[in-house]
Amino acid sequence: MRTPDKVSGCLILRFDFHIKRFTIKKKEKVMFTMSDKIVLTGIKPTGMPHLGNYVGALKPLVEMSKSNKTFMFIADLHALNFMRDAAALRRHTYEIAAIMVALGLDLKNAVLFRQSDIVEVSQLATMLMNVTPKGLMNRAHSYKAATDKNAAAGLDIDAGVNMGLYTYPVLMAADILLYNSDIVPVGADQKQHVEFARDIAGYFNHIYGPTFKMPVPEIGRDTGIIPGLDGRKMSKSYGNVIPLFAPAPELKKKVMRIITDSRLPGEPKDPDTLTIFQLYKHFAARDEVAAMHGQLLAGMGYGDAKKILFEKMDSVLSAPRMEYERLMNNTAELDKILDDGAARARVVAAETYKRVRRAMLG
Ligand code: TRP
Repeated sequence: MRTPDKVSGCLILRFDFHIKRFTIKKKEKVMFTMSDKIVLTGIKPTGMPHLGNYVGALKPLVEMSKSNKTFMFIADLHALNFMRDAAALRRHTYEIAAIMVALGLDLKNAVLFRQSDIVEVSQLATMLMNVTPKGLMNRAHSYKAATDKNAAAGLDIDAGVNMGLYTYPVLMAADILLYNSDIVPVGADQKQHVEFARDIAGYFNHIYGPTFKMPVPEIGRDTGIIPGLDGRKMSKSYGNVIPLFAPAPELKKKVMRIITDSRLPGEPKDPDTLTIFQLYKHFAARDEVAAMHGQLLAGMGYGDAKKILFEKMDSVLSAPRMEYERLMNNTAELDKILDDGAARARVVAAETYKRVRRAMLG
């Protein structure tokens, strides 16, 4: 169910106008002018990301932060529906923060914070519950995956499903709408959630008048699928990942384990179907990529190609890996960064929430 485009288009226009007036009238120090696109994304703290996450999501986010106002939070509240170990959750939260800083996130443009540090997000989620149709949640991919699995096992369809999982998309809509996001870069698996946020914003605006902007999902475009050790998509569930900041010896071991066919050195290889080459493309400079392409066609052996791949990866990753380790031994520094981020995020959150309160409660 969608708000008709015509209606939402008209709402967006009116909303822009409203915000502009609002901003000028209050003469506040404008943190984000309307011409800026506000980018927002959340990363769930579930342990060390892998190179597929790095190439497809983390690296593009760091690039984006150089030219956009970016809200980037660690979605600890979203992890609660399955993570029961508070100490692990805290550690994973630091890990994500340390990774983003170590990869060079621009902390001037990017507001890096813990989702749970901003109470308004929970308050907004409570408000949004009231305009969110239950049927919309029934259609969420992640909920349906859980119920399908239960059905197949002959269980009650809702066995093991908690309300955190069921209402996950409402909290995510609150994340997105709270910070007036324009662009939400996510993986393809999260696209539906961003569309739900648009739907929920549309329902709300329809009932209470223009209040929320319409966010647009941005699905990683050119990176394609990053292959794992066995050639299938790199994914934790396939057990074929290379962890982003694996120590050099472990990285080397993983690279050496990349599965190849039995073609011998001297036999020509097809770079486009080769995991080694597909990974190399994301780390090496253009001329280096072209060089390996030619050498593979000319019969370069897999062992040599793997060695070059490992050395290139290690040279790209070793400096950020060291910075990551330094930060993880200095959590006070991470706390300071996250507290700073929370203070900046809170300014925007409080303002949006006030607008919502006024609209709903008078
Ligand atoms: N659900 C996202 C994931 O699992 C994480 C997330 C939470 C998020 N809130 C968000 C992403 C808001 C984008 C915007 O990857």
